[in-house]
Order: sequence, then C-alpha cells, then structure tokens
Amino acid sequence: MSELTTTGEPRRLSERVLEGEPRAIARAISLIEDDAPQAAALVRALFPHTGAAYLVGITGPPGAGKSTLVDRLTAQLRLGDQTVGVVAVDPTSPYTGGAILGDRVRMQAHAGDAGVFIRSMATRGQLGGLARATHEAAQVLDAAGYHWVIIETVGVGQDEVDIVRTADISIVTLVPGAGDDVQVLKAGIMEIADVFVVNKTDRDGADRLVASLEAMLALEEAGPDQWRPPVVRTQATTGAGVPELVAAIDAFRAHSTAEHMSRRRVRDEFRLRELIASRFMAHVESEVLRSGELAVTLDRIADRTLDPYSAAAGVLGRALGRGGSPPVTLDHVGIAVRDIAEAVAFYRDALGLEVVSTEEVAAQRVRAHFVPVGESSLELLEATTADSPIARFVEKRGPGVHHITLRVDDIRAALARLTQRGVRLIDDEPRIGAEGALVAFVHPSSAHGVLVELKQDVKG
Ligand code: CO
Repeated sequence: MSELTTTGEPRRLSERVLEGEPRAIARAISLIEDDAPQAAALVRALFPHTGAAYLVGITGPPGAGKSTLVDRLTAQLRLGDQTVGVVAVDPTSPYTGGAILGDRVRMQAHAGDAGVFIRSMATRGQLGGLARATHEAAQVLDAAGYHWVIIETVGVGQDEVDIVRTADISIVTLVPGAGDDVQVLKAGIMEIADVFVVNKTDRDGADRLVASLEAMLALEEAGPDQWRPPVVRTQATTGAGVPELVAAIDAFRAHSTAEHMSRRRVRDEFRLRELIASRFMAHVESEVLRSGELAVTLDRIADRTLDPYSAAAGVLGRALGRGGSPPVTLDHVGIAVRDIAEAVAFYRDALGLEVVSTEEVAAQRVRAHFVPVGESSLELLEATTADSPIARFVEKRGPGVHHITLRVDDIRAALARLTQRGVRLIDDEPRIGAEGALVAFVHPSSAHGVLVELKQDVKG
C-alpha cells in the first residue's frame, strides 16, 4: 500500500497508523468511510494491534449537548495523561467536507494536543454500513495507540443503538424538557445504557427527568452483583459533573471486567454478521441480479403481484446455486436392457459417458448400473432371474425405457395433487426406496405410457 503515501516515504499506511501519525490516521479513516478497495487490507493489517483501547459509546437525541460533553470528557481524561480518539457520527447531517470544518472547530478546544484526535464520519447516506465504518474507524484509533476511543452518535435510532451498544461502555445522554423520558422508552434505549447522563441540569425539569429515569431503573429487576446504571448530572458548558462521569465510567470498567470479553465478543459477532451480510448483498447485486431486475421486482411488490418473502427466497435460491429451485427435477431414466455389459459398452465406449456405480437389487432381481448425464443419470437395468419384473418387461415390450424418476420436494403433497386429479397410482403412500429415499409409482396408464416414479430424497 506504499502508493498511498503522500509524503514520498516508501512506508505502508498501516505502519504509519501504528506509529500514531495523524495524517495517516485521517487517511485510513477516509479509506474506510469510502469503502475503498484498500480498506479491507488496511483493517486486516491493523487488526492484530487492536484491543487495548477502551471504547466509550455516547448517544442521545439531537440537542443533548453531546459534542460539548465529549470535549469536556476528553479534557478530563487528558488530565490523567490518557490519550483520546473521538469518532463523531451524525447520520442525519449531509456531511461532505463539512465534516472537516466541524472537526476543525471542535479540535480548537484541543489544539496542539497530540494526545487527542477528533474525526467526524461522513456517512454519505449509507446507513447500513455506518456501524461497520464507525467500528473500523475506532479500530484505526485503537491501533494508533489511543487509550480511549469515544464514539459519539446523534439520535436514538436503531443505527445509533447498534453502534453504541457494542462499545465497552454505553452512555445515554438526555436533556430536560425534550420529552426524553418518552423517547427513552420508545427507542428501547434502557437496555443499552450503562450510564445515564442528564446534561444541561441548569434547565427546568432536570430534577423531574432524573427522578423519572431513576423510577424506571427501579422497575428493573437487578441481582446483587448486577450493574445498576447510575444517573450522572452534568453541565457540559461549565464542565460541572464531568469528573463524576469519569468516576462512573471507571466504576463500570472495574465492575465489568468479567463481562468485558463477552461484550467484545458480541461486538465481534455483530461486525462479522454485518460484514457477511453486506458482502453477500454485494455479491447478489453484482453476480445474481440481472440489470434492472431489482426495479422490476420492486414494481411487482408495489402492485402486490409479488410478496417480498417470495422475492427474497427466489433471489436467495439463485445466489445459493439452486437455480431458482425448481420443484421437480429429473433424477434418472431407468432403461431395461438384455445385456448390461453391451449396454455399458455403448454408453461408456461409444458415447464417452462414465459408469459410476453398480448395485444388485435382490428384491427386484435386477442389476443396475448408473451413468450420470449432467444433473440426472441413466439407470441401466438387467434382470438377474427370469421372473424379475425387468425380465417380464423386456419379454413383453423389448428393451427400452422402463421408468423415469422425478425428484420432488414433498412426495406426499405431490401424491395428494395427483390423486385429486384422478391419476391412477401404484403406490398411494410413499415407501422407502434406495438410500432411504421416499418413492411412489404412478401407473403408466395415467402417465402416457411411461412408468413414473416419484422420489423425495432424505434431507442431509
Ligand atoms: Co430407478
């Protein structure tokens, strides 16, 4: 990745990130944001060097004063000589370069402090990948050696919840007089909060908000060893309450050492699932869907001629190579022959087909050879005794096609459908055939002169 260096040194970007070079960190996060092809290799290179930073997730509704709070929190952590990286996410704001201006304004509070790195994420409307990009940006800062990585998100929607709940600690910030108590319940954010912050406590209604939060927390069943989220009052503009917030974070960190690894495991799982889902969707879009197919499918869903479940199942079937998963396929064609050695010589030597398996079916008094042809096969059948059904068939009609076998997903449903149409069946109920498959025969008189065998494979 040496071509990415802008200053001419032939050093890899990942090495420069590991050395904590701010320009390299900024470049690395940009690559991740843009989902650039080099991003995956970069994350791979940095990954072994991550895991040391403590991730703090902070969310809350717009106007809760989170940016100011994060600045104050950063300053407080710096007093302890700890380095701090900040990733700020605002999916509602159309950042395009504006993020950089925002960062500059925010960075002024920590200007000239090499121990602080602040970065806003330009989300470019890709909400799905936001959680992944945010976590990878946090990993860049982790690998760069920052002791603390603060992830700040605006809003309390599902994306913010997903981002924040996988941090090592989740802090939910609320302000009085914004109908927050309702909002908290609605977003189900109670479950993700390890610490509540009521900011702007100089405002009217602060006491009421703290009281309603504590009332809600009191309803939660908590075991003696279980962490009970504290409610911390802050006034970010003055910095009041920020040391108490750091104390609450430290207390949680000390309390949750045991849970720490399982929390990280949840985060890893979330990221892995997200990655597989997004890679799979990218594969579907590039390899499975035909040009314009998605739009046509959406039109059909809109006019209710197709439901989304069937649409998804169809695409999934094709992506998994089931070719649209036809309900009936040709399993094999059974051919009654007089002399199996001569028949094999014809199919193998003259036609170049392979004979893969042979079996003697004692009950039927036949010897069978299977000759695969594409997805199906030919089953060459030779009688082993004079009273075998195959011997009688050859005697009566001469050698030739004896039966065809159709593979069905649900043999009982197939038989029911045939019965309903008055089709004459040899077997009303399926019986166990070779390799445990369920089989049933349809009488040739109902199948235009051909003996039809239905077969349902046992599911592996
Ligand atoms: Co057969």
